Amino acid sequence: MSESAAAERVRRQLDDVLDPELRVPVTQLGMIGEVEVDAAGTAEIWVKLTTEACPMRSRIIDEVSAAAVRAAGVRTAEVHLGVMTPEERGALKEQLREGHGAKVNRFAQPDSLTQVYAVASGKGGVGKSTVTVNLACALATQGLKVGIIDADVHGFSVPGLMGITDKPTRLDEMILPPVAFDVKTISIGMFVEGNQAVAWRGPMLHRAVEQFLTDVHFGDLDVLLLDLPPGTGDIAISVAQLLPGAQLLVVTTPQHAAAEIAERAGALSTQTGQTLAGVIENMGPMTLPDGTVLDLFGSGGGQIVADRLSEQLDTEVPLLGSVPLDPALRQAGDDGAPAVISTPDSPAGRALREVAERLGGRARGIAGKQLPLTLA
Ligand SMILES: Nc1ncnc2c1ncn2[C@@H]1O[C@H](COP(=O)(O)OP(=O)(O)OP(=O)(O)O)[C@@H](O)[C@H]1O
Ligand SMILES: [Mg+2]
Repeated sequence: MSESAAAERVRRQLDDVLDPELRVPVTQLGMIGEVEVDAAGTAEIWVKLTTEACPMRSRIIDEVSAAAVRAAGVRTAEVHLGVMTPEERGALKEQLREGHGAKVNRFAQPDSLTQVYAVASGKGGVGKSTVTVNLACALATQGLKVGIIDADVHGFSVPGLMGITDKPTRLDEMILPPVAFDVKTISIGMFVEGNQAVAWRGPMLHRAVEQFLTDVHFGDLDVLLLDLPPGTGDIAISVAQLLPGAQLLVVTTPQHAAAEIAERAGALSTQTGQTLAGVIENMGPMTLPDGTVLDLFGSGGGQIVADRLSEQLDTEVPLLGSVPLDPALRQAGDDGAPAVISTPDSPAGRALREVAERLGGRARGIAGKQLPLTLA
């Protein structure tokens, strides 16, 4: 029996409802079953969730109902939730993989158009994670499709900085990353209970990063940012192996010692064959309300690192920006709402948005990517 015209109008409205995790219309994901509209204008919609334990149940009900009553002739909507059959889940997974097999690291494929940036530093606590989440959110506001992998397995901090408490949904072995501020985000912190420590050695760390790259469904991204742990340890090397096309973003404070160590982290790229996208100075001089400048960690370190790395690597390594010390940036991190979103006109918010503008201009395509050429 063909559907009534009213039911068809409801389906058209449902084209605008995106699955909260996949960011694809629910009508394209096989999530909408039968739709019926009676003479009194009550629409009944049967929705099939990917899993019984879907954390987004109430949000899906609200959004489907709201869309349905926008259809002409519909006054109220009732949503009935069910769960996909194993066959339906299988078909959905196939569709999401877009022809790529299971367990494939799509970001390492030669035809991948995603710009991958690994945010690195020599020293700890210089603001890598803060820079990562702010750049990601700022790039997303430019309309780019952005993902973050928190590759700091021992010291994960990205869920807190992004205000994410949701657990990822599982579609069998496929993991759907939570989305915050339009950024798909994955972290080991989403898989451990409370504030538990992750006491893993090198091979397990490698495996964790590899699994994020193969099992997490990010879809087609313009930019993927990886927040690395400090220094040049196991994970930095794993990332270099798993993502040979990743470009390093080196974060340093202006301080001399930090700058020298940052230089070493940057110089590691010659050994791993990675390219350097540039240097970001963080915790730079801040202007106080009375106009005086407080340079707690000195000034100029970022430019020094960029200049020295340019010389050492014999290629232009730009200073992408200097982010001042700014209590608003720390506060925003503590609140789980990155400053580029919550206080975009704070000094640090502005500086980070400018860096994101420079990176966003390069996003997508082969521009800036290392070409697989060997020169004789
Ligand atoms: N420009 C800034 N102004 C004020 N506070 C900042 C600034 N940048 C970072 N912070 C604060 O400094 C602390 C360290 O930042 P963050 O965790 O981002 O550093 P990290 O390099 O990722 O550290 P780790 O090496 O431990 O991973 C945080 O409390 C953060 O809010
Ligand atoms: Mg960190």
